[in-house]
Amino acid sequence: MATYLGFCVLVTMLKLAIAFANTPDTFNESACGEISVGFGTYQDICPEAEPIIFSWVEKAVAEDPRMAASLLRLHFHDCFVNGCDASVLLDDTQNFVGEKTAAPNLNSLRGFEVIDAIKSELESVCPQTISCADILATVARDSVVLSGGPAWEVQKGRRDSLSASKAAANNNIPSPNSTVATLVAKFENVGLALNDMVALSGAHSIGKARCPTFSARLQGTNQNGPDNNLDFVASLQQLCSGSDSNSALAHLDLVTPATFDNQYYINLLSGQGLLPSDQVLVGGGEQTREIVETYAEDPFVFFEDFKISMLKMGSLGVLTRSNGEIRKNCRTTN
Ligand code: HEM
Repeated sequence: MATYLGFCVLVTMLKLAIAFANTPDTFNESACGEISVGFGTYQDICPEAEPIIFSWVEKAVAEDPRMAASLLRLHFHDCFVNGCDASVLLDDTQNFVGEKTAAPNLNSLRGFEVIDAIKSELESVCPQTISCADILATVARDSVVLSGGPAWEVQKGRRDSLSASKAAANNNIPSPNSTVATLVAKFENVGLALNDMVALSGAHSIGKARCPTFSARLQGTNQNGPDNNLDFVASLQQLCSGSDSNSALAHLDLVTPATFDNQYYINLLSGQGLLPSDQVLVGGGEQTREIVETYAEDPFVFFEDFKISMLKMGSLGVLTRSNGEIRKNCRTTN
């Protein structure tokens, strides 16, 4: 709870900074018990929700520091597939094949048990009130905060889908071997722009990736141009040459792997981006490279843009009012 209060202070400072800058105020009230933004509010219906979620994320990250990254990624893989509706959390049923076995997710997505634990406690405190989609959006923010990144007020009121789509997950979630043009197209497809793509890629400031996802960097088959950091590529080759090469993991940010900061962009400029889709932001065109340079120079600009793009991503295709439902268990429809 002490840390949650610290987080509250952080959010309040953020709001003061916004008020001081005279920016149009989309933050109506405080994040700490009086939330009222976006599509709805928990203030009157379940004020305990955010502290409960935060303390579960805090516990999970203390036990497994990588969990912050895994929870952040869950929200992204949810929002890119028919909107932020917790479809990613559904297990297969007789009526549909869920998204968990789609290529970008299989043996890759983590953190489902953390969401289960949060949902279970929320159901006992405020039955059928907090959607699984809102839980995903909130844990993503809390994970960033706990990793040293910026805080923002999460919009509330998403409802949960009644279905999931493996095909849409395969189609919509970008591949690590994408060109800039394909990355931009995948983001535009869901309503996000090139600058959102570059800012949100900064999520790769934390977390890990398996060798197969960056093998194009190792084999010199990276279609996005030659790698300019041969020592880095050699170290990856060594990591991925063992018998467990399919499961071996590399840090997405080799310098500050568990801290959410702008080091990811600094790495890109020295040819030390892990995924081809990271490194291509520098080698694949002027537009993305200029944004990378700005973020590498100024962490404050990166944090501000990241928050804005996370809010945009978190509002994609949301179900509200009588659409969807509030699931009792995030893995199944009611
Ligand atoms: C720009 C297009 C993107 C591509 C091609 C991409 C691809 C990937 C890949 C291949 C991995 C490694 C998966 C594995 O080895 O199992 C990964 C990890 C990760 N991605 Fe992305 N990603 C993209 C954008 C994003 C966005 C927008 C976010 C969040 C806002 C995000 C958050 C993460 C995080 C935090 C991890 C580490 C997860 C962990 O350690 O469990 N990514 N991404």
